[in-house]
Formats: sequence, C-alpha cells, structure tokens
Amino acid sequence: MIEDIVKRFDPLPVKSKLIIFGGGFSGQHLASACKALGNKVLCSRRQEKSKGADFIFDSKNEELSKKILEDATHVLSCIPPSAEGKDPLLQKVKSQLLNAKNLKWIGYLSTTGVYGDSQGAWVNEKTTPKPKQPRSIRRLSCEKEWLETGLPLQILRLPGIYGPGRSAFESLLIGKNKMIDKPSQVFSRIHVDDIAGAILFLIDLASQGNRQTIINVADNLPTNNMEVLSYAATLVGKTLPKIEPFESASKSMSPIALSFWQENRRVSNELLCNELGYNLIHPDFRFGMKDCFKQLKMN
Ligand SMILES: NC(=O)c1ccc[n+]([C@@H]2O[C@H](COP(=O)([O-])OP(=O)(O)OC[C@H]3O[C@@H](n4cnc5c(N)ncnc54)[C@H](OP(=O)(O)O)[C@@H]3O)[C@@H](O)[C@H]2O)c1
Repeated sequence: MIEDIVKRFDPLPVKSKLIIFGGGFSGQHLASACKALGNKVLCSRRQEKSKGADFIFDSKNEELSKKILEDATHVLSCIPPSAEGKDPLLQKVKSQLLNAKNLKWIGYLSTTGVYGDSQGAWVNEKTTPKPKQPRSIRRLSCEKEWLETGLPLQILRLPGIYGPGRSAFESLLIGKNKMIDKPSQVFSRIHVDDIAGAILFLIDLASQGNRQTIINVADNLPTNNMEVLSYAATLVGKTLPKIEPFESASKSMSPIALSFWQENRRVSNELLCNELGYNLIHPDFRFGMKDCFKQLKMN
C-alpha cells in the first residue's frame, strides 16, 4: 500500500523533480507514492484521457516539449523496447537527457528475462545474460543503449510484477486460473510496492555516492505458481480447478504464455537486500497476496 511506502521512506530532497516516462502499473505507483511524500512528479502516458497522465509522450508521435525535462533531477523510464529492439525514450529524448543540467539519477526498468533459462539455478547481477526469448534479446540491447549514454544510470532488473489489480485474485475471481503442474518450475516475482520502495531507497543511496549500475529487484522466495494460486484461493474462499500437467496445458497456451514457462530461474536479491540493506515491504508472495487481498476488500 502507498501508506507502507510513505511510512518507510523519506521524500526526495527538496526541489527535486521526478519525471516518469511510462506511467503504467509500476510508474503510476511510484508517482502516487512520491506525490504522497510531497514530491514534485510528472508522469507520461500515451493518451490524454489515461489515468494519471500529467503529460503526453508517445515515441511514435510528437517531440517532447523541452519544458518537461527542464529542472528534472530524477528520471525513470518504464517504457519497454520497440519492436526493433531500440529504446523508445532514447530514440526521441537522448539529447535532451544528456543536456539536462540538474539530472542526478536516471532509472531504467528492465527485466530478469535477460538472464535466460538457468534451469532453476539462482542468477545474480554477475551472471552473464543469455537471453533466449526475442523480447529479452531486445531488452538486453536497450540496456546496452542506456549504458552507452554515460548518464547516472541504474538498471533495475525485475521479475514478474504483481500488486493490487494485477494478481492471482483477478484470475481466480473470473474463474480463469489454471493449476498447471510443471515439477521444479518456479517464478520469481516482485510486489509493485517494493519497486517503488526500492527506487526511493536506491535514489537515496546514490545521493550518498553508492550507485550500482545493475540491480535485481525481486522478493525472497521464487515459487511455483500453484502455491501462489492455492494461497490466494484460501484467502478469498474459492475452490481451485483440477491440477493439469504442463504437457497437456501447454497445448492451449498462447505463444507468449508458453515462452514464460520455457524459462526457469531463481532471481537473487542478495545485492539489494543483504549488501545494500533494503528491507522488502513484502518479503514473499504470502505477504504480498495478503496486501492485495486487503485492497480487494476495500474496493
Ligand atoms: N509486467 C511484468 O511482469 C514485467 C516484468 C519485468 C519487467 N517488466 C518491464 O518493466 C517495465 C514496467 O512494467 P509495467 O508492467 O509497470 O509496465 P506497463 O504497465 O505495461 O507500462 C508501460 C508504460 O510504457 C508506456 N509505453 C509503452 N510504449 C510506449 C511508447 N512507444 N512511447 C511512450 N510510452 C510507451 C505505456 O504507455 P500507456 O500508459 O499510454 O499505455 C505505459 O505507461 C516495462 O518496461 C515492462 O516491460 C514488466
């Protein structure tokens, strides 16, 4: 919950101006947290009528007004790669970013998909990326583009993002959940509160001279999906469908869904949580699902 973030973290320094490109699920959440902390934040969306659109930015259309990045101290990009594997923000705004005189920190939300398939082994920031899926190959190429800018950059590699409105509850409530059994398959995940929390934590640390260029932001417990669904079903009082072996379930999966099941890795948060000292708001899916449930009941 935004309240949890506000309780734990200090606002950005006075006179900070945070610009978030791509105010979707994670971007919007960080914007709300920063606004609740009293910071100046502007968030982009592609369409004027979208929720939380403080300004419009679509890399396929107009140029960005120079005023947006004027006086910006912090920037976060949540925009995924283009179909050609180029970074949409850099394509349009690179020179403005390079000329932004007050810019102290820039964050780029990437994915742990860049590690590829580790067959269930732990991966950390020192693991050589071996992306297999075309979207992860495109992502790694965007990370490189960002690194080459020389900007004060932090790349946050994220596993599956969940939170209120985007969790196992939504599929359970519409009866679309599937109990797919693929022995030893796990997925790493992160609650959206911890994306916002980690960003505030990392910005503060960077201001003290400690800025890791690449950092995994994941919770403590990579888990099988059936465990998460079973836990959610218990909380919400729903019965689960029969368990279906992966071999049969995979026949009706979309190519994108199938691609997620073709990779198995445990994402380590050692650097963020043990070395740097970030305390997760939701250390594992049980804490996170309880939070989603609380907010489900409130709506
Ligand atoms: N979802 C996951 O489980 C997951 C896991 C790992 C990493 N990631 C990555 O982490 C980032 C944040 O994830 P999320 O789920 O919070 O993202 P999201 O909700 O899908 O939001 C993406 C944002 O990017 C904007 N956008 C997309 N293409 C654009 C373009 N060409 N020009 C300008 N804006 C554009 C969207 O604009 P509109 O608001 O107008 O739609 C949206 O605000 C994304 O890059 C995502 O790929 C996601």
